[in-house]
Amino acid sequence: MSKKKQDYDEFIEKFKPKKTTDDCYTPPPVYEAVLDWARKHLDIGDRPVVRPFYPGGDFEHFDYPDNCVVIDNPPFSIFSKICNWYVERGIPFLLFAPAMSSIKQNVTYIGVSCTITYENGANVNTAFVTNMMGDIICTTAPDLHESVKKANDDNLKQSKKAIRKLSFPDCVLRATTLQTMSRAGVDFCIKREQGCVVGQACESKKGEFGNSILLSDTATAKKLAAEKLAAEKLAAERLTLTEKSKAIIAQLNEAHAKSSYPSYVRLFSPY
Ligand SMILES: C[S@@+](CC[C@H](N)C(=O)[O-])C[C@H]1O[C@@H](n2cnc3c(N)ncnc32)[C@H](O)[C@@H]1O
Repeated sequence: MSKKKQDYDEFIEKFKPKKTTDDCYTPPPVYEAVLDWARKHLDIGDRPVVRPFYPGGDFEHFDYPDNCVVIDNPPFSIFSKICNWYVERGIPFLLFAPAMSSIKQNVTYIGVSCTITYENGANVNTAFVTNMMGDIICTTAPDLHESVKKANDDNLKQSKKAIRKLSFPDCVLRATTLQTMSRAGVDFCIKREQGCVVGQACESKKGEFGNSILLSDTATAKKLAAEKLAAEKLAAERLTLTEKSKAIIAQLNEAHAKSSYPSYVRLFSPY
Protein backbone atom coordinates (compact mmCIF):
# COMPACT_ATOMS: atom_id res chain seq x y z
CA MET A 1 0.00 0.00 0.00
CA SER A 2 1.35 3.46 -0.88
CA LYS A 3 2.12 5.91 1.94
CA LYS A 4 -0.48 8.34 0.58
CA LYS A 5 -3.21 5.66 0.59
CA GLN A 6 -2.23 4.60 4.12
CA ASP A 7 -2.42 8.22 5.39
CA TYR A 8 -5.81 8.61 3.72
CA ASP A 9 -7.14 5.38 5.28
CA GLU A 10 -5.93 6.48 8.72
CA PHE A 11 -7.57 9.88 8.21
CA ILE A 12 -10.92 8.27 7.25
CA GLU A 13 -10.65 5.82 10.17
CA LYS A 14 -10.68 8.74 12.62
CA PHE A 15 -14.16 9.74 11.48
CA LYS A 16 -15.70 6.28 11.75
CA PRO A 17 -18.00 5.96 14.78
CA LYS A 18 -16.23 3.88 17.41
CA LYS A 19 -18.13 1.16 19.21
CA THR A 20 -15.81 0.29 22.09
CA THR A 21 -17.18 0.83 25.60
CA ASP A 22 -14.61 3.61 26.10
CA ASP A 23 -16.41 5.54 23.35
CA CYS A 24 -19.92 5.08 24.72
CA TYR A 25 -21.29 8.55 25.30
CA THR A 26 -24.21 8.77 27.70
CA PRO A 27 -27.55 10.02 26.36
CA PRO A 28 -28.39 13.11 28.49
CA PRO A 29 -31.81 11.75 29.69
CA VAL A 30 -30.08 8.61 30.98
CA TYR A 31 -27.48 10.69 32.81
CA GLU A 32 -30.24 12.85 34.32
CA ALA A 33 -32.06 9.73 35.56
CA VAL A 34 -28.88 8.54 37.29
CA LEU A 35 -28.22 11.99 38.78
CA ASP A 36 -31.81 12.20 40.10
CA TRP A 37 -31.44 8.80 41.72
CA ALA A 38 -28.13 9.83 43.26
CA ARG A 39 -29.65 13.02 44.69
CA LYS A 40 -32.41 10.96 46.34
CA HIS A 41 -30.28 8.13 47.70
CA LEU A 42 -26.74 9.41 48.23
CA ASP A 43 -25.56 12.21 50.45
CA ILE A 44 -24.95 14.86 47.81
CA GLY A 45 -26.86 17.90 49.02
CA ASP A 46 -25.54 20.98 47.21
CA ARG A 47 -22.05 19.59 46.60
CA PRO A 48 -20.72 20.24 43.08
CA VAL A 49 -21.15 17.27 40.72
CA VAL A 50 -18.33 16.84 38.19
CA ARG A 51 -17.77 14.76 35.04
CA PRO A 52 -14.01 14.32 34.51
CA PHE A 53 -14.30 11.81 31.65
CA TYR A 54 -14.34 13.28 28.16
CA PRO A 55 -12.24 13.04 24.97
CA GLY A 56 -8.69 14.12 25.71
CA GLY A 57 -9.48 14.27 29.45
CA ASP A 58 -7.05 13.31 32.20
CA PHE A 59 -8.97 12.40 35.35
CA GLU A 60 -5.78 12.29 37.41
CA HIS A 61 -5.08 15.97 36.69
CA PHE A 62 -8.69 17.16 36.62
CA ASP A 63 -9.35 20.23 38.76
CA TYR A 64 -11.67 18.67 41.39
CA PRO A 65 -13.57 21.40 43.29
CA ASP A 66 -13.60 21.10 47.09
CA ASN A 67 -16.22 18.73 48.40
CA CYS A 68 -17.24 17.59 44.89
CA VAL A 69 -18.87 14.34 43.86
CA VAL A 70 -17.94 12.53 40.63
CA ILE A 71 -20.95 11.16 38.75
CA ASP A 72 -19.88 10.05 35.31
CA ASN A 73 -19.45 7.29 32.77
CA PRO A 74 -15.70 6.51 32.67
CA PRO A 75 -13.69 4.51 30.12
CA PHE A 76 -14.35 0.90 31.15
CA SER A 77 -10.91 -0.23 29.98
CA ILE A 78 -9.31 1.46 33.01
CA PHE A 79 -12.27 1.09 35.37
CA SER A 80 -10.38 -0.55 38.27
CA LYS A 81 -7.58 1.99 38.14
CA ILE A 82 -10.14 4.84 38.27
CA CYS A 83 -12.01 3.34 41.27
CA ASN A 84 -8.79 2.76 43.20
CA TRP A 85 -7.54 6.26 42.45
CA TYR A 86 -10.74 7.85 43.85
CA VAL A 87 -10.91 5.50 46.84
CA GLU A 88 -7.29 6.26 47.78
CA ARG A 89 -7.95 10.01 47.66
CA GLY A 90 -11.38 9.86 49.35
CA ILE A 91 -13.10 11.48 46.37
CA PRO A 92 -16.77 10.39 46.43
CA PHE A 93 -18.08 8.92 43.18
CA LEU A 94 -20.94 7.13 41.46
CA LEU A 95 -19.73 5.62 38.21
CA PHE A 96 -21.38 3.78 35.34
CA ALA A 97 -19.70 0.37 35.37
CA PRO A 98 -19.32 -2.79 33.30
CA ALA A 99 -22.12 -4.99 34.70
CA MET A 100 -20.19 -8.26 34.75
CA SER A 101 -16.75 -7.16 35.89
CA SER A 102 -16.97 -4.42 38.47
CA ILE A 103 -17.68 -6.19 41.79
CA LYS A 104 -14.84 -5.11 44.08
CA GLN A 105 -14.05 -5.29 47.81
CA ASN A 106 -13.48 -1.58 48.43
CA VAL A 107 -16.62 -0.12 46.74
CA THR A 108 -20.38 -0.78 46.50
CA TYR A 109 -21.60 -2.61 43.40
CA ILE A 110 -25.15 -1.56 42.42
CA GLY A 111 -26.64 -4.28 40.19
CA VAL A 112 -29.49 -2.87 38.12
CA SER A 113 -29.77 -4.92 34.91
CA CYS A 114 -29.77 -1.96 32.56
CA THR A 115 -28.88 -2.33 28.92
CA ILE A 116 -28.13 1.24 27.98
CA THR A 117 -28.04 2.25 24.33
CA TYR A 118 -25.22 4.77 24.23
CA GLU A 119 -24.91 7.60 21.70
CA ASN A 120 -22.72 5.46 19.40
CA GLY A 121 -25.52 2.87 19.20
CA ALA A 122 -23.74 0.29 21.36
CA ASN A 123 -25.98 -1.60 23.80
CA VAL A 124 -24.03 -2.19 26.99
CA ASN A 125 -25.14 -4.08 30.07
CA THR A 126 -24.38 -1.43 32.66
CA ALA A 127 -24.20 -1.40 36.47
CA PHE A 128 -23.07 1.31 38.87
CA VAL A 129 -20.32 1.49 41.43
CA THR A 130 -19.97 3.96 44.30
CA ASN A 131 -17.89 4.65 47.39
CA MET A 132 -20.76 6.62 48.95
CA MET A 133 -22.68 3.74 50.54
CA GLY A 134 -20.44 3.00 53.50
CA ASP A 135 -19.80 -0.64 54.28
CA ILE A 136 -22.32 -2.07 51.82
CA ILE A 137 -20.44 -4.29 49.37
CA CYS A 138 -23.32 -4.80 46.94
CA THR A 139 -26.95 -3.79 46.56
CA THR A 140 -29.85 -3.83 44.16
CA ALA A 141 -31.68 -0.62 43.20
CA PRO A 142 -35.07 -1.39 41.64
CA ASP A 143 -35.96 2.30 41.32
CA LEU A 144 -32.67 3.03 39.52
CA HIS A 145 -33.39 0.11 37.19
CA GLU A 146 -36.87 1.53 36.46
CA SER A 147 -35.78 5.12 35.88
CA VAL A 148 -32.74 4.28 33.72
CA LYS A 149 -34.79 1.81 31.67
CA LYS A 150 -37.52 4.41 31.11
CA ALA A 151 -35.02 7.15 30.20
CA ASN A 152 -33.25 4.78 27.80
CA ASP A 153 -36.52 3.64 26.14
CA ASP A 154 -37.82 7.22 25.82
CA ASN A 155 -34.50 8.33 24.37
CA LEU A 156 -34.57 5.55 21.78
CA LYS A 157 -38.12 6.48 20.75
CA GLN A 158 -37.10 10.12 20.39
CA SER A 159 -34.04 9.23 18.29
CA LYS A 160 -36.16 7.10 15.98
CA LYS A 161 -38.63 9.97 15.52
CA ALA A 162 -35.76 12.32 14.73
CA ILE A 163 -34.54 10.21 11.79
CA ARG A 164 -35.49 12.01 8.58
CA LYS A 165 -37.48 9.92 6.16
CA LEU A 166 -36.45 10.77 2.61
CA SER A 167 -38.11 9.70 -0.57
CA PHE A 168 -35.73 9.65 -3.55
CA PRO A 169 -36.70 9.91 -7.24
CA ASP A 170 -37.04 6.58 -9.09
CA CYS A 171 -33.75 7.07 -10.94
CA VAL A 172 -31.78 7.21 -7.67
CA LEU A 173 -30.71 3.86 -6.25
CA ARG A 174 -29.90 3.79 -2.54
CA ALA A 175 -28.09 1.17 -0.49
CA THR A 176 -31.24 0.56 1.59
CA THR A 177 -33.18 -0.42 -1.53
CA LEU A 178 -30.60 -3.10 -2.37
CA GLN A 179 -30.75 -4.37 1.19
CA THR A 180 -34.56 -4.57 1.07
CA MET A 181 -34.42 -6.46 -2.23
CA SER A 182 -31.97 -8.98 -0.82
CA ARG A 183 -34.13 -9.44 2.28
CA ALA A 184 -37.11 -10.10 -0.01
CA GLY A 185 -35.11 -12.67 -2.00
CA VAL A 186 -35.11 -10.63 -5.23
CA ASP A 187 -32.16 -10.98 -7.64
CA PHE A 188 -31.10 -7.61 -8.98
CA CYS A 189 -27.95 -5.96 -10.29
CA ILE A 190 -26.96 -2.93 -12.33
CA LYS A 191 -24.05 -2.84 -14.77
CA ARG A 192 -21.48 -0.09 -14.37
CA GLU A 193 -22.40 1.45 -17.74
CA GLN A 194 -25.99 1.93 -16.52
CA GLY A 195 -25.18 3.66 -13.21
CA CYS A 196 -23.07 6.50 -11.87
CA VAL A 197 -22.16 6.90 -8.18
CA VAL A 198 -22.69 10.40 -6.73
CA GLY A 199 -22.34 11.88 -3.26
CA GLN A 200 -25.42 14.04 -3.54
CA ALA A 201 -28.20 13.16 -5.96
CA CYS A 202 -30.91 15.63 -4.95
CA GLU A 203 -31.37 19.24 -3.89
CA SER A 204 -31.18 19.23 -0.10
CA LYS A 205 -29.57 21.59 2.40
CA LYS A 206 -29.06 18.81 4.94
CA GLY A 207 -27.41 16.52 2.39
CA GLU A 208 -27.76 12.78 2.08
CA PHE A 209 -26.23 10.00 4.09
CA GLY A 210 -23.96 7.83 1.96
CA ASN A 211 -23.59 7.74 -1.81
CA SER A 212 -26.34 7.08 -4.35
CA ILE A 213 -26.30 5.51 -7.82
CA LEU A 214 -27.91 7.55 -10.60
CA LEU A 215 -29.58 5.20 -13.08
CA SER A 216 -30.20 5.30 -16.81
CA ASP A 217 -33.86 5.03 -17.90
CA THR A 218 -33.47 1.31 -18.66
CA ALA A 219 -31.88 0.64 -15.29
CA THR A 220 -34.59 2.73 -13.57
CA ALA A 221 -37.28 0.54 -15.13
CA LYS A 222 -35.43 -2.56 -13.97
CA LYS A 223 -35.16 -1.12 -10.46
CA LEU A 224 -38.87 -0.28 -10.32
CA ALA A 225 -39.82 -3.80 -11.35
CA ALA A 226 -37.50 -5.33 -8.76
CA GLU A 227 -38.77 -2.97 -6.05
CA LYS A 228 -42.38 -3.92 -6.85
CA LEU A 229 -41.52 -7.59 -6.65
CA ALA A 230 -39.69 -7.08 -3.35
CA ALA A 231 -42.63 -5.13 -1.88
CA GLU A 232 -45.03 -7.91 -2.88
CA LYS A 233 -42.82 -10.57 -1.39
CA LEU A 234 -42.40 -8.68 1.86
CA ALA A 235 -45.99 -7.46 2.08
CA ALA A 236 -47.65 -10.48 3.55
CA GLU A 237 -47.31 -14.06 4.46
CA ARG A 238 -48.01 -15.89 1.21
CA LEU A 239 -50.50 -18.68 1.81
CA THR A 240 -50.48 -21.86 -0.25
CA LEU A 241 -53.55 -23.83 -1.28
CA THR A 242 -54.45 -27.07 0.44
CA GLU A 243 -54.25 -30.24 -1.67
CA LYS A 244 -58.04 -30.40 -1.52
CA SER A 245 -58.37 -26.85 -2.89
CA LYS A 246 -55.92 -27.68 -5.69
CA ALA A 247 -57.98 -30.75 -6.62
CA ILE A 248 -61.20 -28.69 -6.70
CA ILE A 249 -59.62 -26.11 -9.01
CA ALA A 250 -58.30 -28.88 -11.27
CA GLN A 251 -61.83 -30.31 -11.47
CA LEU A 252 -63.27 -26.87 -12.27
CA ASN A 253 -60.74 -26.39 -15.06
CA GLU A 254 -61.41 -29.80 -16.48
CA ALA A 255 -65.19 -29.32 -16.39
CA HIS A 256 -64.88 -25.93 -18.00
CA ALA A 257 -62.63 -27.26 -20.77
CA LYS A 258 -65.11 -30.04 -21.56
CA SER A 259 -68.08 -27.67 -21.61
CA SER A 260 -70.04 -27.69 -24.89
CA TYR A 261 -70.06 -23.91 -25.25
CA PRO A 262 -67.77 -22.45 -27.91
CA SER A 263 -64.49 -21.14 -26.50
CA TYR A 264 -65.41 -17.44 -26.79
CA VAL A 265 -68.58 -18.09 -24.71
CA ARG A 266 -66.61 -20.16 -22.21
CA LEU A 267 -64.13 -17.36 -21.82
CA PHE A 268 -66.73 -14.87 -20.64
CA SER A 269 -69.14 -17.28 -18.97
CA PRO A 270 -69.43 -17.10 -15.18
CA TYR A 271 -70.14 -20.84 -15.13
C1 LIG B 1 -17.36 6.08 28.12
S1 LIG B 1 -16.88 7.64 27.54
C2 LIG B 1 -18.02 8.66 28.40
C3 LIG B 1 -17.91 10.10 28.13
C4 LIG B 1 -18.82 10.97 29.01
N1 LIG B 1 -18.31 10.97 30.34
C5 LIG B 1 -20.25 10.50 28.96
O1 LIG B 1 -20.78 10.13 30.00
O2 LIG B 1 -20.86 10.56 27.89
C6 LIG B 1 -15.36 7.83 28.39
C7 LIG B 1 -14.59 9.05 27.98
O3 LIG B 1 -13.42 9.15 28.80
C8 LIG B 1 -12.32 9.57 28.02
N2 LIG B 1 -11.09 9.15 28.66
C9 LIG B 1 -10.25 8.13 28.35
N3 LIG B 1 -9.22 8.08 29.20
C10 LIG B 1 -9.40 9.11 30.08
C11 LIG B 1 -8.66 9.59 31.18
N4 LIG B 1 -7.52 9.01 31.58
N5 LIG B 1 -9.14 10.67 31.85
C12 LIG B 1 -10.29 11.24 31.48
N6 LIG B 1 -11.03 10.85 30.44
C13 LIG B 1 -10.59 9.79 29.74
C14 LIG B 1 -12.59 8.90 26.69
O4 LIG B 1 -11.91 9.58 25.66
C15 LIG B 1 -14.11 9.04 26.56
O5 LIG B 1 -14.40 10.27 25.97
